Amino acid sequence: MKDEHALKLDYNNALAENVGEHGLKLAEIRRELPRLATIAKQLKAQEEAGQLGFRKLPSAAEVRAVKQAGRRLRAVCDDFVVLGIGGSTLGGIALTAALAHPQHNLLPRQMRRGPRVFFADNVDPEGFEALLQVVDLRNCCFNVISKSGGTAETLAQFLVVRHRLSRALGPSGAKEKIIVTTDPKSGFLRELAEREGYATFDVPQAIGGRHSWLTAVGLLPAAVAGIDIEALMAGAAAMDERCRKSAGLNSPAEVAALIPYLAHTTRGQNVNVMMSYADALYRVADWFRQMWAESLGKKLSTSGQVVHAGQTPVAALGATDQHSQLQLYMEGPFDKILTFLTVERYRREVKIPAPGRKAPATAYLTGQTLSRLIQAEQQATETALAMAGRPSLALRLAQVSPHAIGQLLFLLQLATVYAGGLYGVDPLDQPGVELGKQLTYALMGREGYEAKRAELESWASRHKPEFVL
Ligand code: PA5
Repeated sequence: MKDEHALKLDYNNALAENVGEHGLKLAEIRRELPRLATIAKQLKAQEEAGQLGFRKLPSAAEVRAVKQAGRRLRAVCDDFVVLGIGGSTLGGIALTAALAHPQHNLLPRQMRRGPRVFFADNVDPEGFEALLQVVDLRNCCFNVISKSGGTAETLAQFLVVRHRLSRALGPSGAKEKIIVTTDPKSGFLRELAEREGYATFDVPQAIGGRHSWLTAVGLLPAAVAGIDIEALMAGAAAMDERCRKSAGLNSPAEVAALIPYLAHTTRGQNVNVMMSYADALYRVADWFRQMWAESLGKKLSTSGQVVHAGQTPVAALGATDQHSQLQLYMEGPFDKILTFLTVERYRREVKIPAPGRKAPATAYLTGQTLSRLIQAEQQATETALAMAGRPSLALRLAQVSPHAIGQLLFLLQLATVYAGGLYGVDPLDQPGVELGKQLTYALMGREGYEAKRAELESWASRHKPEFVL
């Protein structure tokens, strides 16, 4: 692979001819191709009806506007904090982890391409207060991101920040520090932003949550961290085109959907482990964990049948997890398929020096490089798993670059949508999280949730102290 933008999907080790009975036969894969063709047609119709918002990539002008805002923010703030949760932060986290300097926030200001960038994606008071302690409110900008504009965690974070900023800088000083990214028309945050005059970015109406990483939701934090978002966009567009021009076994998105789907439904591989052999891609695996879980884990099919669909995604890191998880993957139940994320050329190189005296135990390392070692570990692990009859896929990046990351995330997103079609579920919604939200409102005393509160109390009354140790 010479092209630094190249991304390859290798499914050799998912096939029965390489891994035996737990792998898939080519004939079985081919049998599903007519179904995939039907799904492709349905997706096209959905797209034409404006229901597949993420597939309409932002225009060059929209990307330029975000880039400009990023440039301004890089000049005016020392710290940039994203407030949000779930799909509103995981994309930005994956992009900055992959493409900014690995120790971006620890570099001295003059060596950093922009302010320190933090993602406050929880409401643990210890973590949140500690974050507010380390940023200087006078030089910090806050980007509050919520598509709905009404998510409890994000609103709570925002109210705390707005109050602290007003106290420190007065209401007009506070206003300058807040950027709101939300629905263009509806929701509490949109209303508040208009009333209080905050700078805003839109999340297009047809794009929600985890599918919004290629809007200002992911692009603004990435631009602030100094990432080339135009190249990222070009990578996504290239993958989009590649998938539009191909079908069946030639389409990376269709293959990346079909193999794990068949592994699950015909071989009982209900765990999908994404194992990255680059620190930079570990948060991509974490982003994928949400994409695959929230999109496919569904009780009802699109036709209303109870299906309880879904495959459990797990994020793992090589070589680290070879010393933590691999024993289970090698010898535990045959309930997993792995997807390796591999890199051909790492962006930095470290040579392993000689120990200073003759040491046979380290002779094989001396004069080698860390990239050679981690690649050998990856190859060895993939092969050992295959030899043990454990199937895997590999997504092989020539190099981690904005273009390659744009391709990778777009591919995984589109594959998830195809997998939704295979499972017969809607990959764009998440109805299962609703009950937990309503019970939280009830516990927090929100008006209109009194009946839920009574339900919750009756449920809680069944819990007996003798069963608590
Ligand atoms: O992917 C999703 O839809 C969710 O994870 C949402 O992003 C998450 O619940 C936050 O929602 P919102 O952006 O409306 O605050």
